[in-house]
Amino acid sequence: MPTINFSGVSRNFAVKDGDFLALDRVSLDIEDGEFVTVVGPSGCGKSTLLNIAAGLTEATGGDVTVDGVPVRGPAPERGVIFQQYALFPWMTVTANVEYGLKVAGVGKAERRRRAREVIELVGLTDFAGALPKTLSGGMKQRCAIARAYAVDPKVLLMDEPFGALDSLTRVRMQESLLDTWSRDRRTVMFITHDVDEAVYLGNRVVVMAARPGRIQTVIPVTLPYPRTEEQRLSPAFAELRAQVWHAVHHQPAPLEGLAP
Ligand SMILES: Nc1ncnc2c1ncn2[C@@H]1O[C@H](COP(=O)(O)OP(=O)(O)OP(=O)(O)O)[C@@H](O)[C@H]1O
Ligand SMILES: [Mg+2]
Repeated sequence: MPTINFSGVSRNFAVKDGDFLALDRVSLDIEDGEFVTVVGPSGCGKSTLLNIAAGLTEATGGDVTVDGVPVRGPAPERGVIFQQYALFPWMTVTANVEYGLKVAGVGKAERRRRAREVIELVGLTDFAGALPKTLSGGMKQRCAIARAYAVDPKVLLMDEPFGALDSLTRVRMQESLLDTWSRDRRTVMFITHDVDEAVYLGNRVVVMAARPGRIQTVIPVTLPYPRTEEQRLSPAFAELRAQVWHAVHHQPAPLEGLAP
């Protein structure tokens, strides 16, 4: 059984001149322990698809299941990480990380232990008592990742998590995410605008197309893990990047009448 199953998922939005089809019967299986990346032009429905899996948006057609159970709303088994870190500014790193555990009713001592563990995992131990405003963008995002990890989710749903970071920090974040993933093999759905990032991280790249939002193609990334800098600079990587680039940039024309 796949961990995440999208089966004929559609989503309409009411707009002023009728109905807009943001997703048109999207079907996709994400297997246990996979790292699936999703790319596609702006507005093709990537975030909508992820939000449906997160339980933050409802599908207007089709079904999404996680471990065979239909998604009916947000749940701690599905950790969501957005581009904007959404940390509580008045809480320290530790308090932010502990928050989800507190909501879940985990006792104080266990909260502390678990927070310490995941804060160390993302390399923020020296900043455990710091407020978000004193952290760099990369550190804030690591805090958000630690917070998602704290509740030990079955899957991670990441929507352009490194989109706001400079390229050097971004590469470091990619390394640390892969490093963590190689140890726990948590199922990941990761949206990005960056073709390089999609190829470097994923074991498959889902390329979406717009108007209506749909899956254009799925490209398996045939590079072994652990991914290295050498691989990033290899001809095999360049070939995959070209393949994904082509799929993103040479898409069929949008269907008539499907504004915007
Ligand atoms: N609440 C809404 N009401 C109306 N239209 C919406 C709503 N949310 C999303 N849409 C439309 O659905 C389409 C898909 O949006 P979505 O945010 O999923 O795209 P995306 O692929 O994540 O884009 P980006 O790469 O810019 O983040 C867009 O055309 C958007 O305008
Ligand atoms: Mg989006």
